[in-house]
Amino acid sequence: MQEQSQQTMKALEIKDLKKTFRSNFLFKKYRILKGIQLSVEKGEIYGFLGPNGAGKTTTIKCILGLLFPDQGEILIDGQPAHSVTARRRIGFLPENPYFYDYLSARELLFFSASLFNLPAAIVRDRVAALIHQVGLSGYEDLKLRKFSKGMIQRLGLAQALIHDPDLLILDEPFSGLDPIGRKDLRTLILSLREQGKTIFFSSHILQDVEMMVDRVGIILNGAIRREGKLSELISRSIQYYEIVCANIAEKELAKIQPNFVCRDDQFFITLASDADINLVVESIIHNGGRIAAVNPVKMTLEDIFFNEMQPHRPATTAGGADGARTSRSEGAGRDNQ
Ligand SMILES: Nc1ncnc2c1ncn2[C@@H]1O[C@H](COP(=O)(O)OP(=O)(O)OP(=O)(O)O)[C@@H](O)[C@H]1O
Ligand SMILES: [Mg+2]
Repeated sequence: MQEQSQQTMKALEIKDLKKTFRSNFLFKKYRILKGIQLSVEKGEIYGFLGPNGAGKTTTIKCILGLLFPDQGEILIDGQPAHSVTARRRIGFLPENPYFYDYLSARELLFFSASLFNLPAAIVRDRVAALIHQVGLSGYEDLKLRKFSKGMIQRLGLAQALIHDPDLLILDEPFSGLDPIGRKDLRTLILSLREQGKTIFFSSHILQDVEMMVDRVGIILNGAIRREGKLSELISRSIQYYEIVCANIAEKELAKIQPNFVCRDDQFFITLASDADINLVVESIIHNGGRIAAVNPVKMTLEDIFFNEMQPHRPATTAGGADGARTSRSEGAGRDNQ
């Protein structure tokens, strides 16, 4: 404990979390969480990523005390997650929140606040501030049955914030939202980080994650397969280099470098390392060709995710050099626009 108080306290720490479910039929055991290990720094946005059935919601239920783990430890701000102090620090938005249709946004927030025994003056101010913050001003007295999915999601966030928690846990907050709803929610989550909140959210929508997270943990089949700062996970690996060129005969190019594909009158050459770039570029120019671009192609979060899902596939560097060249080139093309 002494040692822990000397370290920077993590907003959330999960150590060796295990959970087994038993089927009703034959009481067969299913190991769903197999030793989850992760930590979330204070003030960061943490993306908890994994495909359907990986164990994201089960982990979240264990954090919230809705499920009892078989083994492991969960700490919120250094306190056991089941303690009253820890519980008060958490705000939670479930996947597909459902609220009583005949309430208005304002009524729902007042009701949620009443569960926390807050003084009336604080509740009044906070409800007004939250309605404004989540962009529902003007709709506070509309019955929820008239709300769109995006509005419900924003209201759900306001409801999760009513007791001013430090740590927000959001289960698949982007699911079912249209692009505008997703953008609004992203902006809102980013503004919460500005206010000093820590946000832990699960998702399998990689674009949304990539645009806003500080760190990610990738969960597959009940275990964390990778965890780290997004910038490190992505930029650690330049996958391969791509040279885009034109105005050269295919036959001539094949003599210089056989690994290329042709698309829209351009050739996309893939090099596994930067060692040969100069030589290849000079040879192309020498043969009358034109260099359109030289791109270091970095791993995207999507690459990492799919690599981890297919452990027996060769690493993407090899895929870049001699495998999925066309798709890599497409990805690189987008990067450069
Ligand atoms: N109460 C339960 N009893 C038995 N099995 C369960 C129970 N809850 C979840 N599971 C199983 O545990 C596995 C993980 O489920 P979980 O809901 O945690 O996945 P998830 O990562 O949240 O997936 P999704 O992206 O679909 O929400 C699934 O195979 C699911 O069927
Ligand atoms: Mg889930």
